[in-house]
Amino acid sequence: MSSSIRSVDPSKSALSSHALRYSLGLRVLHWLTALSMFIVIPLAWYMTELDRHNPVTEGWFNLHKSIGLTVFLLTLIRVFTRLSSGAPPLPERIPTFERLLARIGHRLLYVILFAMPISGYVNSYGGGHPVNWFWLFRIPAVIPVDHWLGHLGGQIHGLLAWATYVLIAGHVLAVIYHQLIQRVDILSRMTVSARRN
Ligand code: HEM
Ligand code: HEM
Repeated sequence: MSSSIRSVDPSKSALSSHALRYSLGLRVLHWLTALSMFIVIPLAWYMTELDRHNPVTEGWFNLHKSIGLTVFLLTLIRVFTRLSSGAPPLPERIPTFERLLARIGHRLLYVILFAMPISGYVNSYGGGHPVNWFWLFRIPAVIPVDHWLGHLGGQIHGLLAWATYVLIAGHVLAVIYHQLIQRVDILSRMTVSARRN
């Protein structure tokens, strides 16, 4: 029925498929964040293997921290946008249990997107190592230099790194499952062309 409406009125079709997508702002923020995460994590693996007494290592740490703090800023903007504009309804074919899993998974990803930069910040500033954001300006300190606090931040950062890997892997696997096995087009909700499932 709806396909016949779409075939006679193309403007309605564009409108209805548009409603199945996240807003442009949320899509751009999602992919900027994903790209940053896929850079910041391998960068962390690389930099933590380097000789910490070599002055070049400090540059890699500063780059990791600059990208990490950018993720924090992007997430702040994203959460406000998300709360004000909402998300498109999931396709009807997605079962209730999977809807619940998606909701929990997405919320945990948001928690990680805040907790990783904050714990990294506490680690660095507690240890007295300020961040020079992309070598442009120094990020102010909002906590005192306190080595115990810095160490705690580092412990939390290291532990949450594992949660980050698990959540991202689960998220990407869920998208692959929906696309290839369940054959529900979830991916286009976050990309350019959404169609009804
Ligand atoms: C989304 C943001 C971030 C992610 C996903 C992330 C991820 C990671 C990962 C995976 C590691 C390696 C952990 C390990 O194997 O022990 C690491 C290390 C580190 N991160 Fe981050 N990070 C983020 C943001 C930040 C920020 C904003 C800062 C500081 C302002 C920071 C400071 C550090 C430091 C200093 C280390 C080295 C810890 C050590 O081994 O002493 N990170 N980060
Ligand atoms: C290849 C990598 C990725 C793909 C293919 C992907 C794909 C998607 C898709 C299709 C959605 C929409 C789900 C829905 O319609 O309910 C989504 C949502 C989401 N993604 Fe990703 N994603 C990727 C990487 C990431 C990464 C690295 C993160 C953060 C660590 C992330 C965080 C999120 C969050 C928080 C949502 C929920 C959006 C909301 O409802 O506000 N994604 N992703």
